[in-house]
Amino acid sequence: MLGPPLRPPPEVVEAYDRELGLARSHIVMFGVTPELAGLGASMTAVDESSDMIAGIWPGDTDLRKAVRGDWFDPPMPDASVDALIGDGCLTVIGGADARQALFSAVARVLKAGGRAGIRLYACPETRDDPREVRDLALAGGVSTFHDLKWRVAMTAIAGGPDYTIPVTGILEQFDRMFPDREELSARTGWELPVIGTIDVYRNSSVVYSFAPAASLIEEARTFFDDVRLASTGTYGLAERCPLLVLRSPKAQITG
Ligand SMILES: C[S@@+](CC[C@H](N)C(=O)[O-])C[C@H]1O[C@@H](n2cnc3c(N)ncnc32)[C@H](O)[C@@H]1O
Repeated sequence: MLGPPLRPPPEVVEAYDRELGLARSHIVMFGVTPELAGLGASMTAVDESSDMIAGIWPGDTDLRKAVRGDWFDPPMPDASVDALIGDGCLTVIGGADARQALFSAVARVLKAGGRAGIRLYACPETRDDPREVRDLALAGGVSTFHDLKWRVAMTAIAGGPDYTIPVTGILEQFDRMFPDREELSARTGWELPVIGTIDVYRNSSVVYSFAPAASLIEEARTFFDDVRLASTGTYGLAERCPLLVLRSPKAQITG
């Protein structure tokens, strides 16, 4: 029942391939995103949740496997990885300190000349007015319910440097903005069970973050020599979901 922008459509899969040149690489993936499981020559996917691995990973083969592990302490040697990908992982780990720890872990495991691509969920520099988001949705101007869910979340995030929102806060903001789900369903054509997928947020203890792309670039520059954004296509909300492309970890100063 999930769709774009949360589930990566084919143009996103192509963007990873195009921007990182993955065809001959062994890829490390943070998460078990099934749509990305066919990328590269081979893949090791890392996720801390055995339920997620059992639930959405398409299954291990000779060339592709999923392992339980922590993105902050990845189960691979330092300077051993050619290419690393992740879909939305900077959003699901918390605030600025967590993002810094994740960039640090990626820089540590990448070889010199290695590259990483992480699709962002980035809020605009100027926060949307919740009333405008509501009017846009009720006028049929939002592509999918999940596009709306992210727009709603982005109206309610904390300020910098963290840009966080507890997942329960996304549901609360949605209920404030759209108290009448039947009206939303009637105006948009979205089925009530699709709208109801947001109710899984009710008992969550997870904190998401939606930092602006410029802040994420600044944060990443501490760890990588070459940091840029690439478009991931034209699906709904794609302009807020660019690929953050990271190359060449900065030389580690030791001793
Ligand atoms: C909401 S899901 C993300 C959805 C994902 N983009 C997909 O395609 O399904 C978040 C995932 O990140 C994993 N995760 C979050 N923090 C993690 C960490 N520090 N180490 C490993 N996995 C982590 C969770 O176990 C979960 O599978």
